[in-house]
Amino acid sequence: MQILVTGGAGFIGSHVVDECLAAGHEVVAVDDLSSGKRENLPPGVPLYQVDVADADAVRQVFELVRPEQVVHQVAQISVSRSVREPAFDARTNVLGLLNVLEAAVRYGTRSFVFASSGGVLYGDVYEPADEEHPAAPVSPYGIAKLTGEMYLQFFVREYGLRCTALRYANVYGPRQDPHGEAGVVAIFLQRMLHGEAPVINGDGKYIRDYVFVEDVARANLSVLAGEGEGFRAYNVGTGRGTDVNELEAGLRQALGEVLRQQGKKLELPAAAYGPPRPGDLRSSLLDAGKMARELGWRSRVTLAEGLRRTAAWFAGREEDAG
Ligand SMILES: NC(=O)c1ccc[n+]([C@@H]2O[C@H](COP(=O)([O-])OP(=O)(O)OC[C@H]3O[C@@H](n4cnc5c(N)ncnc54)[C@H](O)[C@@H]3O)[C@@H](O)[C@H]2O)c1
Repeated sequence: MQILVTGGAGFIGSHVVDECLAAGHEVVAVDDLSSGKRENLPPGVPLYQVDVADADAVRQVFELVRPEQVVHQVAQISVSRSVREPAFDARTNVLGLLNVLEAAVRYGTRSFVFASSGGVLYGDVYEPADEEHPAAPVSPYGIAKLTGEMYLQFFVREYGLRCTALRYANVYGPRQDPHGEAGVVAIFLQRMLHGEAPVINGDGKYIRDYVFVEDVARANLSVLAGEGEGFRAYNVGTGRGTDVNELEAGLRQALGEVLRQQGKKLELPAAAYGPPRPGDLRSSLLDAGKMARELGWRSRVTLAEGLRRTAAWFAGREEDAG
């Protein structure tokens, strides 16, 4: 099957590409490399370096590739940038999505998977929220995700495109960009490996549902394999909450083990505490029971295992660089 992954050179998109290849599919990637990297893609995977906001360029790719299925991971992912520059956010996250949806319909794509976000849709939740939880996004980034899902429903009704929104929890793992504002696991690991103290915002009692990137990539594949009719939305998370203090302790342990195995000695400085970040949710947890019931997907990688694998990847990267 020919699958087109937008954002394929990015963090989650590149893992989706890996899963597609492992399942024996042909895959091509679209990415403007604004944050993605060519080296995230396995050799031999065609990459079309295209800005999804450029409708003509998107159409040309679809005319050449005519993908049966599209996995749309492209986004401007910074919530704070979306607050500062809502039009820029909408250019990629709304207009870019529409360009890809239009091209999909025009060139005969059968099904479309969209990367949405549970946290920004549901807001503060102290028990795992299911898909019926009311959506009330507050940031332009969240508004664009909700708008995206509503456009998907329009494309289902109007054109019969099969559309699925996957509402991710907090995704972490190898290849995550440590220079962004999100991705606390990557940010902490990068700092620890440079001998700098990880900075915990506020009291560190902010609870998140951390899901390993390979599990998320597998969730995308299970949608492609079990495609149904109409519009569907699924949460992709673990339902388990971890606060930032616990996460930092888990990471310290995971990285310590990895470094010991590599025979390295590195003093990991104690965490520092900074001011709370305005607007941060206190708690965000997703109930992914619907994915389990309908598609047989469950997260497999425990947090301890995922942190160990992520720490090993970041430590290996430092070794290559240094
Ligand atoms: N990482 C998370 O925890 C998380 C949580 C919820 C939802 N999501 C969603 O998952 C998707 C993937 O996120 P990620 O964490 O892998 O981020 P990422 O930044 O690594 O991936 C996004 C990719 O899109 C590309 N891109 C950005 N603007 C583009 C444009 N105009 N045209 C073409 N390519 C463009 C970037 O170069 C990058 O490779 C996004 O839609 C994001 O909103 C991520």
